[in-house]
Amino acid sequence: MDLTPKQIEVVESVRTEDPKILLLSGAKRAGKTYVALLLFLAHVAKYEGEGLAFIIGGATYSSIWRNILDDMEKVIGREIKLDKKNAFKLFGNKIYVFDGSKSDSWKKARGFTAAGAFLNEGTALHNMFVKEVISRCSYKGARIIIDTNPENPAHPVKEDYIDKDGQMLASGRLNIRSFHFTLHDNIFLDPEYVESIIASTPSGMFTDRDIFGRWAAAEGAIYKDFHDSVHYITSEEAEKLNFVRYWAGVDWGYEHPGSIVLIAEDDQGDIYILEEHAKQHEEIDYWVKVAIEIKSRFGNINFYCDTARPEHIIRFRREGMRAINADKSVIAGIEEVARLFKLRKLKVVKDKVERFKKEINMYVWNPITGEPVKQWDDVLDAIRYAIYTHLKPQRRKTG
Ligand SMILES: Nc1ncnc2c1ncn2[C@@H]1O[C@H](COP(=O)(O)OP(=O)(O)OP(=O)(O)O)[C@@H](O)[C@H]1O
Ligand SMILES: [Mg+2]
Repeated sequence: MDLTPKQIEVVESVRTEDPKILLLSGAKRAGKTYVALLLFLAHVAKYEGEGLAFIIGGATYSSIWRNILDDMEKVIGREIKLDKKNAFKLFGNKIYVFDGSKSDSWKKARGFTAAGAFLNEGTALHNMFVKEVISRCSYKGARIIIDTNPENPAHPVKEDYIDKDGQMLASGRLNIRSFHFTLHDNIFLDPEYVESIIASTPSGMFTDRDIFGRWAAAEGAIYKDFHDSVHYITSEEAEKLNFVRYWAGVDWGYEHPGSIVLIAEDDQGDIYILEEHAKQHEEIDYWVKVAIEIKSRFGNINFYCDTARPEHIIRFRREGMRAINADKSVIAGIEEVARLFKLRKLKVVKDKVERFKKEINMYVWNPITGEPVKQWDDVLDAIRYAIYTHLKPQRRKTG
């Protein structure tokens, strides 16, 4: 089996340094999970026939299947069936599979004595779960392998483990060894694929984390790839385009402005923000009027709505609008919009927006929380709901 030079480094460390906790952190698609899986299998095989317990942890059962068990089936050449305790036999041992993203997830691992664990996507797991699993791995020679993408530099996975790289146990065994992966470490990826990933990854935090694997703080402007000279077009230019699809995004607001944005896709697959309707201190009756007027011009289009006010969504439906609950995943949604700006596939009709012009430059990360500052986000939220929710099914199809 061929390994990348970085993966060989990791395997060598396990062979010669025998760390108790092995951390593989870094870029997406860098080859972390691949080598973690091989090392975990080798670790379980070392105890062949001893009837010991091992733990596999991931955010959810579906992510565990997608990221680990499907590939494990290929390597071991047989189907994996989880029993009632979500466990299966492997090399004469038992592997317990736990979803670990919730605050009470740690209770599942309580009372175990395990000889090893594989924790996938460390930052997606609850901190208590990670700690509990590590403390359950008390069998002699136990190893915990954690793979993860980077997040905020203050994340416990970084502060409690990665920053303690090289820490020794009283026994003289190495406790923690951590490796850093970049996208370029995976030499088995097609160079054209790597190039396209780099070209479509938003500048700033997303590039730092997803390409270089750095635990970069979120800071400064959120949509760093937006440039007036590139992303604005005029109404006259928009009139020459051939739009094939229309939809809208809705962010409810009263003290903060509420907003409805009209979005269209042209026959080239490019996306345009055609209109912004943003207003402060307006009740739902006003927004119904705006939506009905949009519907009269563009037909029965989808309105992807902020789910914070379900009663407003119900009202929209009663008035005949196709009102759909938006997917409000903040970081993933921002990444999608930012990706389109980076690719120059999302443009804005300048004379049809007002508040957008301010927000696009004022919308910034809160470096402490790693989330956007909840200000100057009203039109941008409506855009994010509309674009992320609308494009999601397409993304799933193309993988
Ligand atoms: N040594 C290898 N030989 C062949 N293919 C590999 C090797 N290492 C990794 N790959 C393939 O490269 C792709 C990315 O690897 P992997 O899933 O391990 O990355 P990752 O770092 O876990 O990424 P993510 O952060 O996105 O989960 C996978 O399709 C994997 O099968
Ligand atoms: Mg992975």
